[in-house]
Amino acid sequence: MKKKELKIVTIGGGSSYTPELIEGYIKRKDELPIKEIWLVDIEDGREKLEIVGAMAQRMVKAAGLDWKVYLTLDRREALKDADFVSTQFRVGLLDARIKDERIPLSHGILGQETNGAGGMFKAFRTIPVILDIIKDMKELCPNAWLVNFTNPSGMVTEAAIKHGGWDRTVGLCNVPIGAMRTAEQVLEATEKELTFKFAGLNHFHWHRVWDNEGNERTKEVLQKVYDPNSTIEVDEVKNIKKTPFNYEQLLDLGIIPCAYHRYYYISDDMLNHSLEDFSKGETRAEVVKKTEAELFELYKDPKLDYKPEQLTKRGGTHYSDAACELIASIYNDKKTNMVVSTKNNGAIDDLPYDSIVEVTSTITASGPIPLNWGKFEPGARGMVQIMKAMEELTIEAAITGDYNKALHAFTINPLVPSGKIAKELLDEMLIAHKKHLPQFAEKIKEIENR
Ligand code: G6P
Repeated sequence: MKKKELKIVTIGGGSSYTPELIEGYIKRKDELPIKEIWLVDIEDGREKLEIVGAMAQRMVKAAGLDWKVYLTLDRREALKDADFVSTQFRVGLLDARIKDERIPLSHGILGQETNGAGGMFKAFRTIPVILDIIKDMKELCPNAWLVNFTNPSGMVTEAAIKHGGWDRTVGLCNVPIGAMRTAEQVLEATEKELTFKFAGLNHFHWHRVWDNEGNERTKEVLQKVYDPNSTIEVDEVKNIKKTPFNYEQLLDLGIIPCAYHRYYYISDDMLNHSLEDFSKGETRAEVVKKTEAELFELYKDPKLDYKPEQLTKRGGTHYSDAACELIASIYNDKKTNMVVSTKNNGAIDDLPYDSIVEVTSTITASGPIPLNWGKFEPGARGMVQIMKAMEELTIEAAITGDYNKALHAFTINPLVPSGKIAKELLDEMLIAHKKHLPQFAEKIKEIENR
């Protein structure tokens, strides 16, 4: 029997993205009988929670809704009898992300939020916390859905499902939403007139497009978006420089890459841009820290009761359309097609059956059902397999604190030069992040006492 009054919890409720989430719920007020929204944070995020929480309460009131919006540092109180739990937390906050980006770059190596050394360290910090949350959920809300937005979203989702045993976990990202909007723009078509199939990993997916006459339009999108002679201007995620791909390589690839593929397909340009930003003290994390401060100043305004335009300066904008649509589609068995991180179950031939992949799926009351993708061509197949191997080693290392496994993940990650530098970088970053890496405590002490 469907519950008529929903309790929705957001862990990381003090995030600057929260107004986006609240707006998404308000937009779906007729599909989701929400009774309570609980915004949860930790002591370090208390001030942010109070500011953005008051903003959320104003937004709900301005929408004329009688939902209760609770703010709490007590995760267990919030989780009790929750129906949906969304997660959007950043362990170590933005200062940890600044280290993830600046330390590799200080060695001339790419430093990025979810890719390379930075992404592996965000996984090391985050995975033990998601498993801890799941332990509470097993006791307090055993039937809830876990909607994960916390990056690196694919690895965190894999850890939750494969290691935490929480099958009702769905990983989300906003990048595919933007990619579908781009295809609609260049093909001058609406969402209903196109069919998309995405496949790969979070921040490492490709996609194909068909129209309602059954014609594949993928090559046309590649040409209109990436041909250097194309004059069409398209938007891309705000956090990635729109450095041009090698168009001829994309023509051979034959499927549409995601924005993050730039770090892999044109590593030199992307590293040079990052090194330039680094030298000016303007890595993405440092820029975001300024944007965050501006946003929280705005949110303090007791008259502001709607999501400000400035939030679209963040890379994760529109993510709430993903989170709220997913919840509405599960609750109402809407069978909406969405791109989510979920169990492969054979959708992608080239990846392990039980691995978590990012694929177009039909969202039902029993969760995502992936559309079949089949096989990748050799180039994409090779890359996605090495990336999944790196992810598996990273997840294992995050859970066990196994240094050898962490070094192995560093060594095979395409964005970390292998060899002595990989070890030096791993050791330096372990020490820099030690406050948030209890699982590596012993090894860190050994490294410090060398
Ligand atoms: C992208 C990704 C998110 C990522 C964000 C970074 O769109 O989908 O996973 O966290 O942008 O944006 P930021 O503004 O924090 O650099």
